[in-house]
Amino acid sequence: MDLMPRTIYFDYNATTPLDPAVREAMLPFLGEIWGNPSSVHHVGRRARALLDDARERASKIFDCKPSEVVFSCGGTESNNLAIFSTTQLLKPKGRHLITSAIEHHAVLNCFDCLEKKEGFEVTRLPVDSEGLVSVDDLKKAIRQVSILVSIMAANNEIGTIQPVAELAAVCRERVVVFHSDAAQWFGKEPFKAIDQFNADLVSVCAHKFHGPKGAGLLFIRSPLHPDPV
Ligand SMILES: Cc1ncc(COP(=O)(O)O)c(C=O)c1O
Repeated sequence: MDLMPRTIYFDYNATTPLDPAVREAMLPFLGEIWGNPSSVHHVGRRARALLDDARERASKIFDCKPSEVVFSCGGTESNNLAIFSTTQLLKPKGRHLITSAIEHHAVLNCFDCLEKKEGFEVTRLPVDSEGLVSVDDLKKAIRQVSILVSIMAANNEIGTIQPVAELAAVCRERVVVFHSDAAQWFGKEPFKAIDQFNADLVSVCAHKFHGPKGAGLLFIRSPLHPDPV
């Protein structure tokens, strides 16, 4: 007996089905377009032109520079890249990091690792009964040696939307890099431009809004140029 027609799927925060238009747009890349965009011959140059076009289009949607768009393989990789690469770059300045207690494990595990293996000090801000981080708590937590704050835009379990622009403004004033995991935010909230986050780094994940698994993006505001990891 086929049970699938009886299934009503309510778990869109876990993942969404692929939009048929997205599938259609991807098909050439599973077929005739297979070049390495770094190759100098025409097979590679064709792939490069299409990759550049994708970056250009992503940057238009974000209203940012194409060079500020880094493609990744999803939310987890975007978060790992954001956190490990900026801490690597900024550790000569200080070793204090701030996040919230309710981040996704793709963020929490990075901070646990930096604390246990690299000797960073991590402050995990508590949340109120609605799941909100307090701007005042963040202000109090920032110190001279703080280098990175990471607070998610929308929570994957209870849906709380954080006052990211306000939290980011505090960080900007104190010259601390601000990252936001927006994997659960895109596709659900009204979006005009990446500047509305006011953040230095923003993680995006395609499969949460009808894109494919294994595709994501990290916005990195120039001139921030984190170290490779
Ligand atoms: C808030 C949040 N961040 C990160 C991720 C991880 O994204 P991905 O599955 O693309 O690695 C998820 C996915 O559940 C998420 O909900």
